[in-house]
Amino acid sequence: MTARSYLYVPGDSPEKLGKALGRGADALIVDLEDAVPAAGKDEARAAVRDWLDTADPGPVEIWVRVNPGELREADVRAVAASPRVTGLVLAKVETADELGTLDALLTGIGAERLPVVPLLESAAAVLRAPRIAAAPRVARLQVGEADLRADTGITPGDDERELLWVRSQVVLASAAAGIDPPVAPVSTDFRDLDALRASTLGLARLGYVGRACIHPAQIAVINDVFTPADDEVGWARDLVARFEAEGSGVLVDSNGRMVDEAVVRQARRVLVRAR
Ligand code: COA
Ligand code: MG
Repeated sequence: MTARSYLYVPGDSPEKLGKALGRGADALIVDLEDAVPAAGKDEARAAVRDWLDTADPGPVEIWVRVNPGELREADVRAVAASPRVTGLVLAKVETADELGTLDALLTGIGAERLPVVPLLESAAAVLRAPRIAAAPRVARLQVGEADLRADTGITPGDDERELLWVRSQVVLASAAAGIDPPVAPVSTDFRDLDALRASTLGLARLGYVGRACIHPAQIAVINDVFTPADDEVGWARDLVARFEAEGSGVLVDSNGRMVDEAVVRQARRVLVRAR
């Protein structure tokens, strides 16, 4: 089932980790990177490994965000073999080549099939999105907008149109590489849930199917936006059933609109996300 919400949880906070699985997020991203200060990296890595040993995730996916550069290998070695880890989120990926290196490391550890999600957080990374999307083990892409803003000087206004090109580039690169649609970036303004809803609806229209968040209060809004409405699911079910019964070609749907194979493919995407 496609996860809708991804809650970042600081890896150095046992209190937050302890309750995180019950907050209602479909997935956690346990963070060893920016949420953890440089002096606390070793301690956080050990704390996350201990937590993984006893965590009872049930249906909640557990992703771990690992550091870039020289800390990456130690982070990966600490968590990648845990059966509770769904996959790794890779901070500050810059090139497709580094994913080849990581693939070899994971294979050496015995994590043959562990998927990875590169975070694109610089101008260079966003421009290389098509190649990064096609690299080994990449399940989908994610954008890290805080670092990207610092890298580029992009300063979004209320409707966030300044980020439109970046956000769409990542959706198109994903589809072109045949990987899952991307997870949308966090909103750091965790008290303004109306703004969160408006921006998440915009991201859903762009083709995103889930969103990361930093605070439990944001989860319900994100889950709601990314759950297809009952009437949308009904329309999709009806359409796919009739299309399959009547064979290929053109027909008219329950709203009186023309339907062909492309519309049916769109309807199938809705059914994949239905709950
Ligand atoms: N994960 C799990 N639990 C969280 C949480 C998170 N990201 N953010 C807050 N909580 C918990 C708090 O521990 C508190 O728990 P309690 O009900 O048991 O007391 C409850 O939710 C309410 O939190 P609140 O007091 O409103 O916020 P805070 O001041 O404790 O934390 C932040 C605010 C921003 C520091 C915190 O949300 C946070 O650390 N977010 C993640 C930051 C991060 O990972 N950044 C890197 C990725 S961009
Ligand atoms: Mg960052």
